[in-house]
Amino acid sequence: MKQAGRGFLIGLAGVLAAGLPLVAQAAAAQSALSKQIDVCASCHGENEMGSRDGGYPAIAGLPAAYIRAQLKAFRHGARDNVMMNAVASGVDAAQRRALAAYLAAMSVPVSAPARGAAAHRPNPVGAALAIHGAPGQRIAGHGTAEIPACAACHGAAGLGQGAFPRLAGQPADYLQAQLRAWQAQKRPAGNPPVMPAIARAMSEAQIKAVSAYYGALPANPG
Ligand code: HEC
Ligand code: HEC
Repeated sequence: MKQAGRGFLIGLAGVLAAGLPLVAQAAAAQSALSKQIDVCASCHGENEMGSRDGGYPAIAGLPAAYIRAQLKAFRHGARDNVMMNAVASGVDAAQRRALAAYLAAMSVPVSAPARGAAAHRPNPVGAALAIHGAPGQRIAGHGTAEIPACAACHGAAGLGQGAFPRLAGQPADYLQAQLRAWQAQKRPAGNPPVMPAIARAMSEAQIKAVSAYYGALPANPG
């Protein structure tokens, strides 16, 4: 009985000795994460909700797997952006996982009603394309491609669903740039790899219209 008691105490001391540094490590990792999140916010804005000036996308509330894949693509240069290539080069796989989980779980603030000219200018071309799809432009050697309804994957209000990122409320300039990057094979195909073909089927006028449409929608209609 005494023997067993001493053994228990020695065992407990061992657990404490091993356990305390683990707690300290976890706390250090937590504060490293919140420092990184602050760095992200210096460009991605308050609540990581992006900013229209400069075309910084919102990254709060995007799918975790999507965020992870983007950080990896920026790190390896498969997705090309001077700022994010630099940021992602300092983020390893474990940090990508932690950052993606944190950002995906962030709540998206209810958006104020859209202001400015875009809110009042009807955009029938962009809306029709988003909700119903459209005949696409003629592609040399491939005839005319159909553009599928964006809503089929990105959700009826563009809020994203499952693996599909939210488009609503992203800066229109940013959305245009992504579609052009896929046309020019400067952004990897993604998962599922559908966007390059969709982007190639789009004319410049369709890219502008649908980007303006999604840019004017609220990221969280409440
Ligand atoms: C110096 C400014 C800057 C900082 C700091 C920064 N970003 Fe970015 N980020 C950008 C820009 C600009 C883009 C748009 C890139 C493009 O056009 O492809 C972007 C895009 C992204 C995207 C892709 C979004 C999407 O919808 O595909 C993710 C994810 C991302 N950033 C995560 C982060 C994280 C996480 C941090 C902090 C560790 C961070 N960024 C810090 C400027 C920055
Ligand atoms: C069959 C499903 C599907 C359809 C239909 C679809 N998308 Fe996508 N879209 C995706 C996927 C998957 C991604 C994520 C790509 C990645 O992993 O890089 C994406 C990403 C995007 C992005 C990048 C968002 C960001 O934050 O960087 C834009 C812009 C976009 N889609 C626009 C459109 C538009 C406009 C349409 C309609 C004309 C459309 N999509 C139709 C599946 C789809």
